[in-house]
Amino acid sequence: KKVVLAYSGGLDTSIILKWLQTEYGCEVVTFTADLGQGEELEPARQKALLLGIKPENIFIDDLREEFVRDFVFPMFRANAQYEGLYLLGTSIARPLIAKRQIEIARQVGADAVCHGATGKGNDQVRFELGYYALEPDIKVIAPWREWDLTSRTALIAFAEKNQIPIAKDKRGEAPFSVDANLLHASSEGKVLEDPAQETPDYVYSRTIDPEKAPDTPTYITVDFEKGDATAIDGKKMSPATLLTELNRLGRENGIGRLDLVENRFVGMKSRGMYETPGGTILYFAHRGIESLTLDRGAAHLKDELMPKYAELIYNGFWFSPEREMLQSLIDKSQEFVTGRVRLKLYKGSAWVVGRESPYSLYDQELVTFEEGAVAYDHRDAAGFIKLNALRLRTLAKRNRRNKR
Ligand code: ARG
Ligand code: SIN
Repeated sequence: KKVVLAYSGGLDTSIILKWLQTEYGCEVVTFTADLGQGEELEPARQKALLLGIKPENIFIDDLREEFVRDFVFPMFRANAQYEGLYLLGTSIARPLIAKRQIEIARQVGADAVCHGATGKGNDQVRFELGYYALEPDIKVIAPWREWDLTSRTALIAFAEKNQIPIAKDKRGEAPFSVDANLLHASSEGKVLEDPAQETPDYVYSRTIDPEKAPDTPTYITVDFEKGDATAIDGKKMSPATLLTELNRLGRENGIGRLDLVENRFVGMKSRGMYETPGGTILYFAHRGIESLTLDRGAAHLKDELMPKYAELIYNGFWFSPEREMLQSLIDKSQEFVTGRVRLKLYKGSAWVVGRESPYSLYDQELVTFEEGAVAYDHRDAAGFIKLNALRLRTLAKRNRRNKR
């Protein structure tokens, strides 16, 4: 019996590791991914070795490029936002972790996988829907739903009994829970649980306070090819490098903070604080280039479908036929979403101040207030308006007749 554990190297997943060994008596394989969370991975290897994991059972992967290229960028082609605001930073990372865990399980011949998400949240759903979609008969172990280590005291006692090293600041209750990757950092719980109370300053890790951001704006350009960002200020970059650079620019200008009360898939409302510096810039930049290159019908249709697409990702259905169908439609729409956007970054805001594209549909001849194009005859507008007004006039007449 072998289990592949999604292992961060932190206290909680170290306790899970030991618990799997003692409770299930199974051989544990650890998988630690670099998704750009900003933590060293070597300590996770050392910790796993210390806890008795064989070197060949320790997997450490740098997934940053795959994460941005195959998950973040496809999602940004849709301008996906859950409930109008959340850029889905945690949601989009889960399917990749699930996918890699299943690959490792196949490689080492494991029959089970294990994650450290609680029994109350979205993440358990996302991990497990991913596992089952890719490996229908896999056994899933979710310790937080199974064990009796339900208090901090019980966890610490278990760690001490099993010689798991505990960092000094980890003895007490953590003041809030964090999930981080290249796209965002999210904080939930504890000090954030009262939605009436403003988030304390010390929660922020990815952005400086917009009030303390530079008094002069920063101008940048972002280039797009078929809907994906490819360069900043004319400099070509790989997807992960580009997002890292946007994160730096966003951090320094205090961009991408979001304080949100959202509806979890499992039914409850939760309050979270998100920082998505680079993603927020990318979101506006992408909308900027789309505004120039997308036909109205195409643009409005994809915007109508976006909430559905975002909800699928939020609810953990990345590996589903309906998400893939929507993805094909979205990808098709991006054929000519190529060009350059110029943005102004200033004290918490990012806005588009210029855009250009060889595939632009913008026609100055057509739109100008000056004497203009032959393709547009003002007289056509009169009939256009009259026919569109026909129903409204009919309704107005009926209402007048019936004195409403
Ligand atoms: N509510 C967010 C989501 O469901 C983030 C969840 C994880 N964040 C955390 N701080 N534990 O996508
Ligand atoms: C968790 O419960 O593990 C984090 C929050 C969530 O998944 O929504």
